[in-house]
Amino acid sequence: MKIDKFKVEKWFNKYEKDAVYDLADTCVESLSIDELLELVGGRESHINEIFSRKLNYGAIHGSERLKNAICTMYKNQSAENITITHGAIGANHLVMLTLVEPGDKVVSIVPTYQQHYSIPKSFGAGVKMFFLEEKNNWLPDLEKLEKIVGQDTKLICINNPNNPTGAVIPDEMLVKIVEIAKKANAYILCDEVYRGLNHSGNPFCESVVDIYDKGISTGSMSKVFSLAGLRLGWIAVDQNIMEQINSQREYNTISVGILDDYFAALAIENKDKIIARNLAKIATGKKILTDWVKSEPKVRLVTPQGGTTAFVYYDAPLSSVELCKRLQEETGVMILPGETLEMDKYLRIGYGNNFEQLKKALNIFSEWL
Ligand SMILES: Cc1ncc(COP(=O)(O)O)c(C=O)c1O
Repeated sequence: MKIDKFKVEKWFNKYEKDAVYDLADTCVESLSIDELLELVGGRESHINEIFSRKLNYGAIHGSERLKNAICTMYKNQSAENITITHGAIGANHLVMLTLVEPGDKVVSIVPTYQQHYSIPKSFGAGVKMFFLEEKNNWLPDLEKLEKIVGQDTKLICINNPNNPTGAVIPDEMLVKIVEIAKKANAYILCDEVYRGLNHSGNPFCESVVDIYDKGISTGSMSKVFSLAGLRLGWIAVDQNIMEQINSQREYNTISVGILDDYFAALAIENKDKIIARNLAKIATGKKILTDWVKSEPKVRLVTPQGGTTAFVYYDAPLSSVELCKRLQEETGVMILPGETLEMDKYLRIGYGNNFEQLKKALNIFSEWL
């Protein structure tokens, strides 16, 4: 089956290995197993537990312990509403594989992770891309959205908090989006891989699955828990839809690694500690970034409210691809061009990692500009 090139992933494959300063990463500095065990405590007993485990398939849809831990991040979900996947990337793919058929109409709110428009397109759906605008603080204009979501829309794809803009849809606005979907009887797939990283107030914004019976939430260990290497994610959804999803899942997952399941459960049970660590890092990185934006006349930014990325506008007479290519070749600073997210003249900057590098790289970028 033909599918468009995944532009962000291609860019990473090509440029990440040679980056001296990597400002493209979307994770908060990853944890080692040692650091995780230090944070959660009880190191010896965990080591004994891990080493004595038989490496069988484990629980097919994920252990009860893990699914129960995931439920603590939702208001109204129980273990039967959760299935464990190969990262959020596997979760999103499975949802679309289950729901989208040739001729369906899908509305995808962009900029977003490319899965949300290229996969349904590859399945033969008609995909309408609904572009967020900087002048609206990267939040959807609901009147316009309502017009684009017609009666025949099967699925609306959202990413909240948003990568790349860092915008967080206010809870009352999410309710209105659900009302729009309800009128069309459409599903909403909300990629909530950054949910748990709101910069102020409750770190968890509202989840679509808690307020809509056709709302589907996907999440993972990669961003909020700094454990991308576990390659573990989940889908939270109403049980009827879950049954259909699991029928597809039997063909491509069986189960995830039992060690991944174990570490994920441990991390989520200690989510307050890990999220506090990560929000502190994000606050430091965000301050460095926003101070730089204030001092650099050629850029502007809507300050991110959640997640780990910012979408910076630049004023220079070259495309974002050209800019990022030349910047990296000439200085070693890696930034992700907006064109890979379908929006030229913007750059995605990740600010949750290595603050010395971030500071240095932004100064180098200013001189280069
Ligand atoms: C919005 C979004 N969804 C999904 C993913 C994939 O996440 P995972 O590493 O859990 O597969 C990413 C990774 O960058 C992402 O930014």
